[in-house]
Amino acid sequence: MRNNPCHPSISVLDVSPDIVPEVVAIELACGLSSRGEQGLLRALDTPGFISLIATLSPQHHVGVFSGLVVLDELQIDNIAVIHQTRQSGIASLLLAHGISRARLLGATIAFLEVRSANLPAINLYRKAGFEVIGQRPAYYVNPGDDALLMSLHL
Ligand SMILES: CC(C)(COP(=O)(O)OP(=O)(O)OC[C@H]1O[C@@H](n2cnc3c(N)ncnc32)[C@H](O)[C@@H]1OP(=O)(O)O)[C@@H](O)C(=O)NCCC(=O)NCCS
Repeated sequence: MRNNPCHPSISVLDVSPDIVPEVVAIELACGLSSRGEQGLLRALDTPGFISLIATLSPQHHVGVFSGLVVLDELQIDNIAVIHQTRQSGIASLLLAHGISRARLLGATIAFLEVRSANLPAINLYRKAGFEVIGQRPAYYVNPGDDALLMSLHL
């Protein structure tokens, strides 16, 4: 467990099998697609998979991050913070921890896709230094949207 000096009450922990249902619940409550509980349990055993949870207390989980390092690339899958604790730096904290972990695993570049209408997420990534490197038209459905492809050299 690591406390962050800017958020003394927030800890970022590795996801363990016992809290997988809470991770999936946060992903779904935040409108993200999710691997589901069985998929996430399998992913936890995958080399290079990073799954982090931000917690205020052992029973109070407020945000999640997941990504996969393959060779020197980090692909960021999901990042989400529950509504009640948004805009207090928790996603930035999760992203920083995820990137730091990916570096330790050998990643030198990170990629992600984000809905072009998702300004909070785009701003979050830009603030962390990500740049738009491409666009995938009509990549998302329900609702339809383009995907922006963003990357960051680590
Ligand atoms: C995107 C999301 C993860 C941001 O979480 P958060 O904890 O509120 O983000 P932070 O507090 O760390 O904010 C970091 C930066 O993001 C941007 N940002 C965050 N929320 C924003 C909002 N509502 N509007 C505009 N910019 C916003 C700002 O640039 C902010 O920096 P600032 O505080 O200096 O202005 C959160 O809104 C969320 O869970 N959304 C639903 C899930 C989702 O869309 N995930 C991304 C999938 S690609």
